[in-house]
Amino acid sequence: MNILVVGGGGREHAIIRSLKKNPTVETIYALPGNGGIAADAVCVPIGAKEIPQIVAFAKENHIDYAVVAPDDPLVLGAVDALEAEGIPCFGPRANAAIIEGSKVFSKDLMKKYGIPTAQYEVFDNMEAALTYLDTAPIPTVIKADGLALGKGVIIANTREEAKDAVRSMMADRVFGSSGDHIVIEEFLTGPEVSVLSFTDGKCVKPMVSSMDHKRARDNDTGLNTGGMGTVAPNPYYTPEIAERCMKEIFLPTIAAMNAEGRTFKGCLYFGLMLTPNGPKVIEYNCRFGDPETQVVLPLLESDLLTVMQATTNGTLEETEVRFSDKHACCVILASDGYPTAYKKGFPITMTREAKEHTFVAGAKLENGTLVTSGGRVTGTTAIGNTLEEAIAEAYRICDGVSFENSYRRSDIGQRALQALK
Ligand code: AMP
Ligand code: GLY
Repeated sequence: MNILVVGGGGREHAIIRSLKKNPTVETIYALPGNGGIAADAVCVPIGAKEIPQIVAFAKENHIDYAVVAPDDPLVLGAVDALEAEGIPCFGPRANAAIIEGSKVFSKDLMKKYGIPTAQYEVFDNMEAALTYLDTAPIPTVIKADGLALGKGVIIANTREEAKDAVRSMMADRVFGSSGDHIVIEEFLTGPEVSVLSFTDGKCVKPMVSSMDHKRARDNDTGLNTGGMGTVAPNPYYTPEIAERCMKEIFLPTIAAMNAEGRTFKGCLYFGLMLTPNGPKVIEYNCRFGDPETQVVLPLLESDLLTVMQATTNGTLEETEVRFSDKHACCVILASDGYPTAYKKGFPITMTREAKEHTFVAGAKLENGTLVTSGGRVTGTTAIGNTLEEAIAEAYRICDGVSFENSYRRSDIGQRALQALK
């Protein structure tokens, strides 16, 4: 089989490594891929949002199955366009990807179908939003409606901060049209859990839970990033909570999307907060998380391609989705300065062991040498019989990856370890 994977980050590298385990897979094309992915797939310089070019490439190269990994092409309708040419795909169509593409849509969906989430108000008028903030409970959370590269959420600890956030989104339009509508919502507290799930629109099979580390620096300080490391499973996500989430959140969400005529197929990501009043949805993503995928897929014992095809064909119920009961930890190496300004172009070296355990994100090949080209550069994943072992191994192996100007957090998994004790 010839497979096409749209995207070019650490998540796509992890997906490609898992797909390669299937013996029927002949060639995997990555569009655009990256310098590290080039070791595992044929990288083609077509951007993830260049949908007409992606479709033309898929037809010319006899693609049997396509995996659309990032949010942008999903929201823009890459799956619809590929399916229209008869190419089966993993991922939701645009009318279902809106569950991530519009916060207003997802909040209204949850309200309509009684799915637990933070209380909220929607505004498309700045003056009304500012007036509301005169009396809203503080802290409060301001969210731009559309995709904003993961930066469209601001937690405001004072009224002035909240109003500044509203002005920057609605008047200065720092997120462009994504800020034309905003959500102002209740500030929730509790441990966060990421649960990725496979769904064919009929049944939902959750993957092993995970914990992201969003802040740039140790002890959850510094700016919000795309994620500086992950562990799986997440110790806060007990079997009792999992059962409750299935009943109160996962199944109702699948049913709600069907009732709206927006059947969701692919990977539905539940960003949950375990509040004193029970688990609540912080956000939905219409795709695999990054860097959650880098710990979740290495624990998948079933064949990824088979499971993906079952979500497309509607046969997920009878398809086994089995995970190892071991632990995984992924440590991200980033360019110093990320998530704001950073230098790039530094050569990357890896030991043979590190290469096997590392998913490459922000790197490109320059005259055959792998050099840094992004903020998050690599993610090194190790598996252990215990969480402690997985963390120690991930850091030990990560020592074998090096480039100038790098930094990493030194406490990935520590909060999870404490929760276990
Ligand atoms: P998101 O971009 O939706 O993942 O939000 C980024 C982060 O903001 C989340 O991972 C949470 O830590 C935090 N967050 C979002 N919504 C809320 C909320 N209502 N209460 C508290 N924290 C939140
Ligand atoms: N790691 C969070 C995300 O992929 O959105």
